[in-house]
Amino acid sequence: MRFRQFESTLIVDAPAKLNLSLEILGRRPDGFHELETVMVSVGLFDTLRFDPAPEDLLELRCDQSAAGAGPRDARSRDLPLLSTGGDNLIVRAAKLLKDETGSRQGVRIHLTKRIPMQAGMGGGSSDAAAALAGLNRFWKLGLDFPALHRLAARLGSDVNFFLDSPPAALCRGRGELIEPRPLRRPLDFVIVKPPAGLSTAEVFREWRQDESRTRTPATAEELLQALQGTNPLEAGRMLWNALEPPARRLSSEVARALQVLASSGGPAILMTGSGTACFALCRNRSHAIAVAGRVRQRNVGQVVAVRTAT
Ligand code: C5P
Repeated sequence: MRFRQFESTLIVDAPAKLNLSLEILGRRPDGFHELETVMVSVGLFDTLRFDPAPEDLLELRCDQSAAGAGPRDARSRDLPLLSTGGDNLIVRAAKLLKDETGSRQGVRIHLTKRIPMQAGMGGGSSDAAAALAGLNRFWKLGLDFPALHRLAARLGSDVNFFLDSPPAALCRGRGELIEPRPLRRPLDFVIVKPPAGLSTAEVFREWRQDESRTRTPATAEELLQALQGTNPLEAGRMLWNALEPPARRLSSEVARALQVLASSGGPAILMTGSGTACFALCRNRSHAIAVAGRVRQRNVGQVVAVRTAT
């Protein structure tokens, strides 16, 4: 998360994430799933701009024109329109802060959406974390980090990760228990977001316990260790996502995205989160740019070459 202040305006850049491994340990009594997942922040950002407003006014406007695709990419067919009402996670974060502190201050928020939605890239959660941290600063509420983390966990399972905003982390529980890990060097990826999206809840519902018998190819610790090495592709065979089989059943576009990445020279490929975005872990930046160029010619969806965010 990056902050910039210009007089009375605060701007926050909210990064996307990729899951390099995601194992489901079981269903929990509260309906959620117990996870062990390795996440990295990547340099594709939504931007939230906070401007002063009269007391009690909470206004959210959203520009989604950048969330489609670059000029040479296939535009998403049915790009969902993001709600700017009470169900939007930014609005929910703002209301939670007001309830918690009793503040009646107003704000105008402008969101520039670049992270694809229904992609498994955490865009909504990152926006929520940016709203919590941003408004805490903008309204001078003085909430400390543990207090913000408690609110984050109420908003969604990935919001705590974005609040910490580490380059990499091992996340457990619903995903909200974060152990930040350093990365010795940046990692480069090519991401493909097919036109179709998937709902996280639906993908989790489709997951079957007996599928976990296939087992993770390596522990999360082994993966994190391999990512520190000089050749990140050694981590390639350790990539794993237990939600990939259910997501493939729900959308044929996941398999197609993975197949296009593989045949374009992506050496280590995986779906992120609950999909439908998929990625290739590349040797370095120039390798990622070359793979992205080949993938773009296949017209499979939005394509972006990114590096881990610091
Ligand atoms: O926490 P979040 O709102 O991001 O989760 C969306 C949905 O994904 C949840 O309502 C739940 O159905 C499912 N989920 C789950 N186990 C998790 C995280 C999410 O079942 N650990």
